[in-house]
Amino acid sequence: MLRLGHVQLQTNLLLAPIAGYCDLAFRTICREWGGVGLACTDLLSPQGLLRGTATSLDLAKTNDFDKPVGMQLYGSDPEIMAQGARWAVEHGATIIDINMGCPVDKVTKKDGGSKLLTDLPRTARIVERVVRELEKCPLDAAAWAARLGPGAPVRASAAPVPLTCKIRLCWHTADYDAGLACSPHLARALADAGVVGVTVHGRTTEDKFAGHVRLEGIARVVEAVGGRIPVIGNGDVRTPLDAERMIRVTGCDGVMIGRGALARPWVFRDTWAHLCEVGLGSRTGGTPVPPIPRAAEPTEAEKLATIRRFFDLMRAYRDDRYALFQINRRVSWFAKTLQRDLGNGKLESIKPFKEAVRNAKTPAEVHEALDRFAAGELRGGWEAHPEEAAV
Ligand SMILES: Cc1cc2nc3c(=O)[nH]c(=O)nc-3n(C[C@H](O)[C@H](O)[C@H](O)COP(=O)(O)O)c2cc1C
Repeated sequence: MLRLGHVQLQTNLLLAPIAGYCDLAFRTICREWGGVGLACTDLLSPQGLLRGTATSLDLAKTNDFDKPVGMQLYGSDPEIMAQGARWAVEHGATIIDINMGCPVDKVTKKDGGSKLLTDLPRTARIVERVVRELEKCPLDAAAWAARLGPGAPVRASAAPVPLTCKIRLCWHTADYDAGLACSPHLARALADAGVVGVTVHGRTTEDKFAGHVRLEGIARVVEAVGGRIPVIGNGDVRTPLDAERMIRVTGCDGVMIGRGALARPWVFRDTWAHLCEVGLGSRTGGTPVPPIPRAAEPTEAEKLATIRRFFDLMRAYRDDRYALFQINRRVSWFAKTLQRDLGNGKLESIKPFKEAVRNAKTPAEVHEALDRFAAGELRGGWEAHPEEAAV
């Protein structure tokens, strides 16, 4: 089983932070489907947390079911990062993660996110300062019982919240191509500074999200750390077979899935069942958790129930306006999984359902669209399979 410091995860699969998407409601539905070893908040501004701004507090929301949870901080000032980490410890974090991969200008122009890949001595200072702060505020055994989540082994003594980092391969693609990526020695330096695990998104900062994940770059990080800390592979994992390939090709200890979960929050359940079947469910020793038996594709009714639950959780954790905004922009992804294959390269069209959800002005109208779809309405006609439409 995957261990991050003294925190033993129940599976080696992690839900990625995706700013604007992986909120408490979404983390909850992924966990309810099963297979999630650790989920993480989207990136949080430590200044925002410390000032108590509403946006930061909303993003950092968690609860007892949402465990174990990583809280991800971004920034470049060691002192502020340390105080942000302390705030996260006091507000429910099981793990603190530092973002070293975000390529967005707003973050990198302030020297945060993947800009940290370009100044390793400074990055080491941030990490050392945060580790020192975490050591000063250990959680007692009772707090750990709540932070580790159901089914986790009980801790008998106090211990600090561990620190992980999420990195990319390096900033410039030319460096990567020349064999000069910083990620292998950065990962070693992070382990030296007290970081207990590193997630590697197998792209350069210049790649942003283009092209394919570079599995060999992740493999080099795995080789460089030589088993001192676990390495989590990340990028383009959308199916159980992708996760198996990520582990076999790179030798990584765990797999983080982001975009692949947005339409299919059951991907962790299916991937965990698959990894257990092929013997990749417990690479780092420990007591394996009983595998989830391989399950069939969720039924249409189960998928509709997931959309409904997600919508209602967003209303409960935030408000109706937020829930309507999110369901409007995400219904197409969910809807794709609801389309029936009519054969001959044709998919049932469910445009009327998507439009009914998108045009909904009230929660009652979203529920009505879901009810009507379940009753066989709001569908009709057909559209070509996406592959064929692209030709
Ligand atoms: C819209 C968007 C927002 C993201 N936000 C974050 C973030 O807040 N923190 C982070 O570490 N990575 C973030 N990422 C990167 C993802 O965590 C992940 O590394 C990347 O999407 C590759 O994994 P995937 O192919 O499984 O999605 C974001 C990615 C996208 C597409």
